Amino acid sequence: MTTYDIALIGFGGVNRTLAELIATRAEGLRSELGFGLRVVAITDLRLGSLVRPDGIDLFWALALGDGSETFAEHGGSADTNNESVIRTCTADIICEATFTNPDDGEPAVSHVRWALESGKSVCTTNKGPVALRGAELTSLAEQNGVHFEFEGAVMSGTPVIRLAKQMFAGLKLNGFEGILNGTSNYVLGQMEAGLDFEAAIVEAQELGYAEANPAADIEGYDVQLKVLILANELLDAGIELKDVQRQGISTVTAEDIQKASRERRRWKLVGSARRNPDGTVTAGVTPVALPLDHGLSGVSGATNAVSFDTDLLGPVTVSGPGAGRVETAYALLSDIIAMHAAKSGVAAHV
Ligand SMILES: NC(=O)c1ccc[n+]([C@@H]2O[C@H](COP(=O)([O-])OP(=O)(O)OC[C@H]3O[C@@H](n4cnc5c(N)ncnc54)[C@H](OP(=O)(O)O)[C@@H]3O)[C@@H](O)[C@H]2O)c1
Repeated sequence: MTTYDIALIGFGGVNRTLAELIATRAEGLRSELGFGLRVVAITDLRLGSLVRPDGIDLFWALALGDGSETFAEHGGSADTNNESVIRTCTADIICEATFTNPDDGEPAVSHVRWALESGKSVCTTNKGPVALRGAELTSLAEQNGVHFEFEGAVMSGTPVIRLAKQMFAGLKLNGFEGILNGTSNYVLGQMEAGLDFEAAIVEAQELGYAEANPAADIEGYDVQLKVLILANELLDAGIELKDVQRQGISTVTAEDIQKASRERRRWKLVGSARRNPDGTVTAGVTPVALPLDHGLSGVSGATNAVSFDTDLLGPVTVSGPGAGRVETAYALLSDIIAMHAAKSGVAAHV
């Protein structure tokens, strides 16, 4: 039976959870999916790096989490050594779940590039490399005969990219609109329930939905990157970040919310893209007061949804979690399953 050797780049919420899944479900995965997984390298800013070609004991590595020790005390290094580990380790697949700088996608872009250049497949949950360097990295993967998968970059484990690519075969996709940020959706919902904007943000922070600096969620930057990914991946738009117009929800007032309620409407932060008659694609992020019978107006709280406009079926909506460490770790697993299916020549059911 095939066993894929894996390197985990970044050992935070997502990759730790993937390690837990591999450690606790190894037998089930083997019998259900027909392949095994073995982690042969881990790098992380706090723990440093560890390479063990015969496999790392994941229960042991997960127990090192409090930061009092590094891999240096266990035959590894206190430094991350990302380039050297990625290029020289024996992994077949690099699972990249570090940090992404929204301006240049680093350090994740380099992690992905080093892996693909050295003939290793990559799955990542980082939006940056896909949104800002997606075409270049996909072409690099093709040149090197390996895979570049990124299902988790848009709606965590909810399979929006793969579903549209595989299940809409034979349909023409005219565009999409979606609720792609749970934090802003939660804040708008709480404002509708009577909280003011600032209080709703504080509540979202207390619940762990919003970051200490909530600008990426509230001002639409996060959705802008996700719209860019979906537009380029699914509509072949060939656009850049500057082409996705962006407006966040900080301009929506309590009066706007009340007026919308009276008119049987509900404010949502909508990310969308649409193909124009001349073939170009117009994409943007903007708050919209949707009628209550609109397919996206009932999507509440931290849930995400995308409604695809298809020629033969009309709107087809996919809804599910858009974040969460378990959900996002599952996205990485679904990427690996898709790679295995491509290698074995069978359809991936993920
Ligand atoms: N969690 C979610 O719900 C979710 C959903 C979709 C997408 N994502 C994306 O998935 C990625 C990982 O998310 P997460 O929740 O696991 O974040 P996280 O808990 O902050 O973990 C990131 C890990 O990467 C480490 N790291 C940062 N830069 C590194 C570098 N240059 N080399 C090696 N390790 C590095 C961090 O170390 P330190 O802790 O020492 O900084 C941390 O352990 C992010 O890009 C995130 O946007 C997350």
